[in-house]
Amino acid sequence: MQLTDKEFLWIVSYVHEKYGINLSQKRVLITGRLQNYLLRNGYQSYSEYLAKVEQDPKGKEAVNLINVLTTNHTYFMRESVHFDYMNKVALPWVKQYAAAKKDVRIWSAAASTGEEPYALAMLLREFFELDKGWDIQLLATDLSTRVLKHAMEGKYLAEQISPLPEKWKKKYLKRISEEEYQVTEEVRKQVVFRQFNLMDNIKFKGMFHIVFLRNVMIYFDDDTKKSLLKRIYDRMENGGYIFIGTTESIDKAATQFKYVQPSIYRKIK
Ligand SMILES: C[S@@+](CC[C@H](N)C(=O)[O-])C[C@H]1O[C@@H](n2cnc3c(N)ncnc32)[C@H](O)[C@@H]1O
Repeated sequence: MQLTDKEFLWIVSYVHEKYGINLSQKRVLITGRLQNYLLRNGYQSYSEYLAKVEQDPKGKEAVNLINVLTTNHTYFMRESVHFDYMNKVALPWVKQYAAAKKDVRIWSAAASTGEEPYALAMLLREFFELDKGWDIQLLATDLSTRVLKHAMEGKYLAEQISPLPEKWKKKYLKRISEEEYQVTEEVRKQVVFRQFNLMDNIKFKGMFHIVFLRNVMIYFDDDTKKSLLKRIYDRMENGGYIFIGTTESIDKAATQFKYVQPSIYRKIK
């Protein structure tokens, strides 16, 4: 099955316009992933499939296109410097800032298969353990419905949970088979998973104290990044922290966030 230049350019522009993801240098990735999908699903050509996506942009095939083309690599305790910083600086700030309402609003904005928001949920439980009455739900969103389904189930292999502290594993994971563990119901309930495209207006209730926007902006061009950071900034409490991937950076001229240290920024008005 051959992907023509025209079909390739159509996919690049469709995915860029709708989801901000730049695949212009990713022809091999596109063919590698889509070809398998098309063969498994009985398509004879790319054009037959792309016509379906175009006809119904909210339909099953459009959803599957994004499920196939997004890169969802993640793992528990990734960039552990952020978890240390949360514990030592960001959460103590929240505790003081939100002392009256006792609500902490945290958003994992590219949550993938759930490792990031669940580790945050565990960290929050540990941090607020002795302080009763705190509402410690967190919001976790992603574009891909495939990874969200996995995330909601909260099932992981033994090797996947290995980076978590032993104490957390014992408290927050239940062995469900020889190979598999599941995040406890209590922790799963603490995380609200929603499908959300970071290109859209942010309409979630309330203002966030902390946003994790890690390892997703790498796929976006400068204008998309700038506009996303502005929309997030406007939905954050003054003093709030935003964490990005440790290999990412934000151009000073492109944001109102103030630099704190590599990959950590803050809204200070
Ligand atoms: C590499 S994963 C990052 C997971 C986690 N934050 C981490 O750092 O380990 C990137 C995620 O961003 C999601 N993503 C890509 N474009 C998006 C968009 N426009 N809106 C929402 N999520 C998007 C992908 O589906 C993928 O699951």
